[in-house]
Amino acid sequence: MTYLEAAAQFYSEVAETPQVGLCCVQSSPLQLPGLNISPQMQEMNYGCGTTVHAAELVNQPTVLYVGVGGGLEALQFAYFSRKPSAVIAVDPVPAMREAAARNLIIAAEENSWFDPSFVEIREGDAFALPVPDASVDVVAQNCLFNIFEPADLKKALQEAYRVLKPGGRLLMSDPIATREIPQHLRQDDRLRAMCLSGALTYQEYTQHLVDTGFGQIEVRARRPYRLLDCQTYNLSEPLLLESLDSVSFKVPIPEDGACIFTGKTAIYSGSQEIFDDSAGHILQKGVPAAVCDKTAAKLGSRLPEEVLITDSTWHYTGGGCC
Ligand SMILES: C[S@@+](CC[C@H](N)C(=O)[O-])C[C@H]1O[C@@H](n2cnc3c(N)ncnc32)[C@H](O)[C@@H]1O
Repeated sequence: MTYLEAAAQFYSEVAETPQVGLCCVQSSPLQLPGLNISPQMQEMNYGCGTTVHAAELVNQPTVLYVGVGGGLEALQFAYFSRKPSAVIAVDPVPAMREAAARNLIIAAEENSWFDPSFVEIREGDAFALPVPDASVDVVAQNCLFNIFEPADLKKALQEAYRVLKPGGRLLMSDPIATREIPQHLRQDDRLRAMCLSGALTYQEYTQHLVDTGFGQIEVRARRPYRLLDCQTYNLSEPLLLESLDSVSFKVPIPEDGACIFTGKTAIYSGSQEIFDDSAGHILQKGVPAAVCDKTAAKLGSRLPEEVLITDSTWHYTGGGCC
């Protein structure tokens, strides 16, 4: 059995017998005014963080959701789109598709604004999305791509890129690892399916996004997710996993490299009222300007005495320089 088949079997089991906290979820799911989430749907919340960012969901976007799980995030996306088939949710596991469909029927009984036709559940997988090129505004996945081995992750990202319209957004939430996960854990198919041993480091994860062609990446949240202890996981030191929420834009990569926003700002404190670097960044004296990490590094090394670069907050919500 390949690791992907093992993952499909695992998700078939947990669709039939939900396991609360399978993927570590410490907080209740994102609440929205007038949104009721049934206990059945909530106990199948197998994601970390969230992929639902209101600012990316204006003008009733078409959303392709990969790996439907219990349907929670598909319902949350439908909250913003509110029209038939605006959310297409794909999953290769029949039991998971059936569970999501059941949960969405309950959702329609509990949410007067929602109709099950708003979410179209389709058979399909991350490597062959059943929609044409450049046809959707948003692709989202939560806690799925981290289970893929690097070559498969590359394919899944290329597929997401293919179906996005120019300017479209890939919304992701995944565990990342604070150091390389050792081979004996990476090779454990069950731990991988449980989102515990496939995670890449932050650098590797963002590099995959850049290599796919995404020209702008924004980190929306980064927080502790799980600690793998020495005894249970046969490690010489504990290994902290984090969760990373990100938005990647299908825009061209600038000549000097992709813009990755992690919440850094640049603050000019020189003798002029305004500093213009002649590369599109105008800093008003004393006022923080959001900058991507590439620009932060350039400004910080060019004018170390006059430009203060603040640390990454790992919480960036737009309004940046480039
Ligand atoms: C960790 S769960 C996450 C579910 C959901 N995104 C959530 O946040 O609750 C992974 C989901 O991906 C599905 N899945 C597994 N392999 C897949 C594949 N190759 N392509 C698309 N979905 C897949 C599983 O059936 C399951 O629904």
